[in-house]
Amino acid sequence: MVSELRSPVEEAQAPPDGARARAAELRRLVRHHAELYHVRDSPEIPDADYDALLAELRALEEQHPELADANSPTSTIGAPPSALFAPVAHDVPMMSLDNAFDLDELRAWDTRAASRLDGPAGPYVCELKFDGLAISVRYEQGRLVRAATRGDGRTGEDVTHNVATIGDVPRRLGAGAPEVLEVRGEVHMAIPAFERLNAAREEAGEARYANPRNTAAGSLRQKDPTVTAERELSWWCYQLGSMTGGPAIGCHSETLEFLDSLGLPVNEAWLLASDLAAVEAYVLQAEKQRHDHPYETDGVVIKVDDFGRQAELGVTSHHPRWAVAYKFPPEERTTRLREIQVSIGGKGKATPFAVLEPVFVGGSTVQMATLHNEDQVKAKDVRPGDIVAVRKAGDVIPEVLRPVLSERPEGLPAWEFPEFCPCPNRSPLVREGDDAAHHCRHPRCPAQQAGAIEHFASRGAMDIEGLGEKNVHLLIREGLIADVGDVYDLAEADVVSLERFGPKKARNLMAGIEASRDRPLSRLLFGLNIRHLGGAVGEFLADAFGDLDEIITASEEQLAETPGVGPIIAASVRAFFDDEDNLAVVGKLRAAGVNFAGPVPADTDEALSATLEGKVIVVTGTLENYSREEAAAAISARGGRSPGSVSGSTAAVVAGASPGASKLTKAEKLGVPVLDEQAFEHLLATGELPPGAAPEGAA
Ligand code: IVH
Repeated sequence: MVSELRSPVEEAQAPPDGARARAAELRRLVRHHAELYHVRDSPEIPDADYDALLAELRALEEQHPELADANSPTSTIGAPPSALFAPVAHDVPMMSLDNAFDLDELRAWDTRAASRLDGPAGPYVCELKFDGLAISVRYEQGRLVRAATRGDGRTGEDVTHNVATIGDVPRRLGAGAPEVLEVRGEVHMAIPAFERLNAAREEAGEARYANPRNTAAGSLRQKDPTVTAERELSWWCYQLGSMTGGPAIGCHSETLEFLDSLGLPVNEAWLLASDLAAVEAYVLQAEKQRHDHPYETDGVVIKVDDFGRQAELGVTSHHPRWAVAYKFPPEERTTRLREIQVSIGGKGKATPFAVLEPVFVGGSTVQMATLHNEDQVKAKDVRPGDIVAVRKAGDVIPEVLRPVLSERPEGLPAWEFPEFCPCPNRSPLVREGDDAAHHCRHPRCPAQQAGAIEHFASRGAMDIEGLGEKNVHLLIREGLIADVGDVYDLAEADVVSLERFGPKKARNLMAGIEASRDRPLSRLLFGLNIRHLGGAVGEFLADAFGDLDEIITASEEQLAETPGVGPIIAASVRAFFDDEDNLAVVGKLRAAGVNFAGPVPADTDEALSATLEGKVIVVTGTLENYSREEAAAAISARGGRSPGSVSGSTAAVVAGASPGASKLTKAEKLGVPVLDEQAFEHLLATGELPPGAAPEGAA
């Protein structure tokens, strides 16, 4: 086509194909992660990684203006509102903020503003940057009439009924309220409220929420306002949207005073700073005092005070030029390593984990962190009694980084891997061949039994709500279950009187068990806890054989011929079904009416096939249940990629035994989460990083 021919000059200016492809890839990634953050309230990558993707895209578009696209996420905000809530058009767009990641970038922002203004931009108002979600609240004649989320900046979601349940949001303003006032602020969950909610969830045998920000967002975007009302949300008000009939106000600092005078919750920590030196001092202090507040802050927002200068500076399609967000760097905290324990997983794998003095880091309290295996403990040289640096890898999984050697008590002994399983059998923990992991091989190890039932009930397998770690241990202790077959014999009357239950939870558990009978065969296979059989292999087998009984009777050779199933897995599957005890369990499942038929229904298949869409997962080291090829096949079957090196776009690194040190270092540097095999299986099954990612089977 003639129109596609380029002149030599155009040819020289045209962006190379690599840049075009990278821009497309970055736009896809940014959109994907923005959707997870804004719509599903469940981000998978640290904010810093998201910012890095966006910055790379912005740089690429600046370098090659031909790549510019009005729909690029560099010129759009947030994510379109969900269909669950009525749309609300914002009269004044709710914009995002430009970021500065260090003082140099802050100074550069100031220099740009000053050069546009032909003079200094200050004074400035410095405010804390609260980590929650932005909402706009509209008052007419002093009465709350509407509250909306930011949405894509132009249209948000109507969350009036939910916001009206938040104690900090006044239903009526005080004396002097203007005819119409639309104000903006951050809905968030205070840390003590978050801890209370999680304690209650733990008590109920439910999974802990990962952090206050996502919990606040999820709590606000509920269809049922009574759920929001139970969640103890808070609000800080920090920005005027629009006003009719109020006093003449000429700058932002006066706005904050005015909002405060109306009874709106304005955080007291703001400062009117006359010049950039005062701004820098505020920023440094805020960073130092970051943990002194009962709520989370992730930076400082700096706004040009004077409205005239604000108007002169104007806005881009994405953010105002008169404000900038200084982002705090990802954090690390230190705490004492009380002891190192070993937990036994459902397949007998012994995983060492750190028991820490509780410490609030990266948005939640951490008291346990997996140490993966003996080699990792040795490489890090962490010893019980050490002060250790702890970080949230990927803001999700807690990680022990290193000991603080200067604080090590003299003569502190190194940790030795225990010789015996902590279960009453005290069978030896063995390390076979070049496997980095130790295993308990006792066939009747109760720790393994509990792990096996927990695995069966986990999200990637039969997904039985209410059958988490604590409840499994309780039911085993009470003699109500000993293997997964017993789960379907449980009756409401058996559990209703137990300490952790009561009528409602007993009913919910029964409903969870009932619902699990119809799970696809691939999930049942995965749930059976067969050695080497991960979620992906479960699917391969279900697709190939179509029925559990066909698999049970298949020969090792037939199993090994299945695409994606090698001789090791085939032998393991055959051995599992040759074991009489296992067949007895399968018999109980059959009698209970658990679905044995495959293949996986088409919709589940589709859902699975997209769970890792666009994600880059790097695998390093030797996994127990997957060869490299199987791991790569499982990732690509779900729409992901698994290149050999870690980069800014890597969503997670899966580390098996003897992982590549340079990959782990790079992951650490970039804040990429590092997953163990169990977390990887969770990721394959659900597309999500495991919340909290407590070590396997940890009590
Ligand atoms: S002002 C146009 N002030 O940060 C400026 N935003 O990253 C509007 N945020 O969308 C925002 N604390 O959700 C402003 N003190 C503060 C803030 C704040 C938190 C949030 C807000 C905004 C996001 C941008």
